[in-house]
Amino acid sequence: MGNTILEVKNLKKYFKSPRGMVHAVDGVQFSIERGQTLGVVGESGCGKSTLGRCVLRLIEPTEGEVFFEGRDICKLKKREIKELRKEMQIIFQDPFSSLNPRKTVLEIISEPIVFNKLMPGASRAQIENRVLELMDTVGIAERLINAYPHELDGGRRQRIGIARALAMNPKFIVCDEPVSALDVSIQAQILNLLKKLQKEMGLTYMFITHDLSVVHYFSNDIIVMYLGQVVEKAPSDVLFKNPLHPYTRALLSSILVPKVGGNQDTIQLRGEVTSPIDPPDECRFAKRCDYRCETCEGSNPPLVEVEENHFVACHCVKPGENLLKKSGAVSAS
Ligand SMILES: Nc1ncnc2c1ncn2[C@@H]1O[C@H](COP(=O)(O)OP(=O)(O)OP(=O)(O)O)[C@@H](O)[C@H]1O
Ligand SMILES: [Mg+2]
Repeated sequence: MGNTILEVKNLKKYFKSPRGMVHAVDGVQFSIERGQTLGVVGESGCGKSTLGRCVLRLIEPTEGEVFFEGRDICKLKKREIKELRKEMQIIFQDPFSSLNPRKTVLEIISEPIVFNKLMPGASRAQIENRVLELMDTVGIAERLINAYPHELDGGRRQRIGIARALAMNPKFIVCDEPVSALDVSIQAQILNLLKKLQKEMGLTYMFITHDLSVVHYFSNDIIVMYLGQVVEKAPSDVLFKNPLHPYTRALLSSILVPKVGGNQDTIQLRGEVTSPIDPPDECRFAKRCDYRCETCEGSNPPLVEVEENHFVACHCVKPGENLLKKSGAVSAS
């Protein structure tokens, strides 16, 4: 794979808590090709943001490796990480709390340029021109250059967050639920903007969301996370046409429009959610799974390639054998 920009190997992040170790990210593995988007989906608390932050080394991983353009960033020194920050950026969910309310648009966008000395020797006017250029790139009118975040609506605030990330000329951006806090009509505009920027600048995205319908449109490949682990990984179309893990099927069934006259049922997730604190060696989804058997409670299934580029961590789904089909699972396709 000659054009891999990011490769993550056996990444773990455990947090200490009074009741034990929270396995927030627990042995995650994936790679992203340059210019592509990896979608990361899963319900609240499954470790998506922790994964995103570890990948950027905003927090220290407990174990594992993160190769960015071939270099293991977990081994970099402080000064090297500062350099790396220019190439790897993050866009947050809530553009209001992530923007300093006491700073103007000009100050917010110029801050990373000044702080990182991206335009050495540049005059104020030259920096302001660069800010205007970035505002134009993300579709913000020039007249708003001296506005404060509270004077802007959610969509514009998110555009400012994107402009601030772009100020560094990054190659890779972690988008952590960038549209979840926005109205549906604005969501599409921001997604279109991110798509356009990707095309024009060759950006690579790791796109985190709990909303599968958003990643379908956006991603080349998708990983589905459950309690810190990847339970399914596939190209986006494959995942939507042929979801194999019972958890992915449940997630998908909740967003699919019922077929006319068909018997498309929503798969309800029932049962107790396994605690992320020192989880036992069993399938973490077993307690909520309609297909669980003794094997599921005996060990945690590894992620296995069951067909080309389609990986699943389920004791009941193996290459050439899908026990879920036999037991009459509802297909979400
Ligand atoms: N600093 C921390 N200290 C202790 N536990 C943490 C910390 N940060 C996250 N966790 C725990 O790690 C797990 C994963 O959290 P994380 O925020 O990564 O999930 P998420 O998938 O991003 O959720 P959401 O969709 O709600 O944003 C959760 O159990 C959370 O409580
Ligand atoms: Mg999160």
